[in-house]
Amino acid sequence: MTTLKNDIFIKALLKQPIDRTPVWMMRQAGRYLPEYRQIRKEAGSFLDLCTNPELACEVTMQPLRRFDFDAAILFSDILTIPDAMGLGLYFSEGEGPKFKHPVRAEKDITNLPIPDPVAELSYVVDAVRLIRKNLQGSVPLIGFSGSPWTLATYMVEGSSSKSFQKVKGLMYQSPMLMHQLLDKLAQSVAMYLNAQIEAGAQAVMVFDTWGGMLSTEDYNEFSLNYAKQVRSLLKTNVEGQEIPTIFFTKGGGLWLEDMADAGYSALGLDWQTDIANARARVGEKVALQGNMDPIALYAEPEKIRQKVKSILQKYGQGSGHVFNLGHGILPDVNPEHVKAMVDAVHEFSPQCHL
Ligand code: CP3
Repeated sequence: MTTLKNDIFIKALLKQPIDRTPVWMMRQAGRYLPEYRQIRKEAGSFLDLCTNPELACEVTMQPLRRFDFDAAILFSDILTIPDAMGLGLYFSEGEGPKFKHPVRAEKDITNLPIPDPVAELSYVVDAVRLIRKNLQGSVPLIGFSGSPWTLATYMVEGSSSKSFQKVKGLMYQSPMLMHQLLDKLAQSVAMYLNAQIEAGAQAVMVFDTWGGMLSTEDYNEFSLNYAKQVRSLLKTNVEGQEIPTIFFTKGGGLWLEDMADAGYSALGLDWQTDIANARARVGEKVALQGNMDPIALYAEPEKIRQKVKSILQKYGQGSGHVFNLGHGILPDVNPEHVKAMVDAVHEFSPQCHL
């Protein structure tokens, strides 16, 4: 593995000493950037960007040209796996992702293939390789996937949802079938992340966006269990180098102790969780990533600076914190406000590493 010029993101995840807190941002490549909107218009659609490695690479690099982020994240989507399983992903303007063939009946699940990422998601693997080449060792590249549970929500609902009645209905009516689906997804996710690691991803993150919709008991059985299974199948040692892993359950603040036992290097925190309290609860087991409210980026830069300072101070002294938002940035945020956030992390965080 090439030596990184800036490896503080990796070191923070592994809780090794650093002299300032690293920062990146969920959805850092996206619609709040005019240069992203331009290239998306030229390409035709979001999926055209994802499936073209050159364009995916270009879009990944865009935020790094503007801001001093300490990591790049592969430009792609979590729904590439269900698409490769044959569900027919498409995006309808203003309505988010949809599937032509949602998973509803027993035969849909038993017939579902486990995609070979190298053959069927080669556009992702190629994008990872190309991005690594373009980064020239400046900052590490994060690979990612959705969690089995979160992928299952989209696959069964067929789109985004507020109540999750189809997927939770299946879970309560046919738990064995749900387990069969989640088991296939866990294997697919692990193979997909391992392919990204082999192609050059230097850290990986699992997004469990909808785990927080479950009761505590169901979270353990249907979400966390499968996140653990994924983790146990990952090959996280590459030529003697540890590939750190991050697990993020939005709305998972109640379950941090259990999440910290799932084997990941770090937990992502949403903005509702107090980071001082989270650190006290997980102790030395894992690093933490987060957790400014994405809407706080609507505030004036001075207010953003104060928010950043407060989160850094709450985490307190020592390594093990990666600054981020508590969820993805919204499309109408002023990029200058992102700069204010990043600059504030640079200004205030050295005091946390004395
Ligand atoms: O963070 C990054 O910059 C990397 C790229 C990334 C995208 N999606 C690009 C994207 C990542 C890590 C994701 C993950 C993803 N995708 C998740 C998990 C993280 C989360 O946000 O909770 C989920 C649930 C999805 C599914 C998905 N993709 C939805 C619900 C949407 C529509 C949302 C919207 O704002 O319209 C997408 C589309 C999507 N994925 C966009 C981007 C930049 C917007 C596409 C566009 O219109 O240009």
